[in-house]
Amino acid sequence: MIGLRSSKARPQKQVDPENGGAGHHGARHVAIIMDGNGRWAKKKHLPRALGHKKGVEVVREIVRHAATTGLEALSLYAFSSENWKRPEDEINDLMGLLRAFIKSDIEEFAANDVRLRIIGNYKVLAPDIVEMIEDALARTAHNKRTTLAVALNYGSQDELVRAAQAAAGEGAITAEAIERHLDTADMPPLDLLIRTSGEQRLSNFMLWQAAYAELWFTDTLWPDFTPAEFDTALAEFGKRERRFGGR
Ligand code: FPP
Repeated sequence: MIGLRSSKARPQKQVDPENGGAGHHGARHVAIIMDGNGRWAKKKHLPRALGHKKGVEVVREIVRHAATTGLEALSLYAFSSENWKRPEDEINDLMGLLRAFIKSDIEEFAANDVRLRIIGNYKVLAPDIVEMIEDALARTAHNKRTTLAVALNYGSQDELVRAAQAAAGEGAITAEAIERHLDTADMPPLDLLIRTSGEQRLSNFMLWQAAYAELWFTDTLWPDFTPAEFDTALAEFGKRERRFGGR
């Protein structure tokens, strides 16, 4: 099989763990497709909203934990551009949780040197949410320890179309030019993509970024996901041999 790799498009930096780079596992950037909130609630005979609520508690725990593992970036798929097809009540529940999350956790991010990033077109969300997001982005913009990228109204195909259009506006459409215009532009290359709940697909999440990422799937439903399982995924990543199309 032919694998092409542009060394410019995919810089492989050697990172010293002592200096805040990749930890002993070697990963710099992990992304998670957090799936299974609905099934978790159903199993417990609870409303779906409580599955999402527990899902946010797990988000909080994983973000806190990830910042201690030497990771430079964590990306979370919180709301896809396809999620608008869900019933209005559920969308309202998710937006309510998002509001509460930003409001209650921004102080902690600011204090813990976590930089917030939003990927996807968040500007179409309710104006109060957009305002809260922009305030949080500004307050954490200079933080250095870990970047938390939350995907909101995100779809990878849409991101790629926007990036290609921007690249075309500048001249030649090259891999480097597209990368420069992705929502993840100033983040490290994606190393590991985790999906919970037993589903094994990318669902329009980080299609470009996942080109050489390792994939890790677990049957655990997102509300049951733990920092220990996150560590298991990182340890597994550390054992994989990555060839980027070479031999
Ligand atoms: C999948 O569960 C989960 C989502 C719709 C996205 C994840 C959302 C959260 C964890 C809560 C919001 C996050 C933040 C940061 C505020 P599902 O409903 O698709 O589960 P199912 O496949 O079992 O029905």
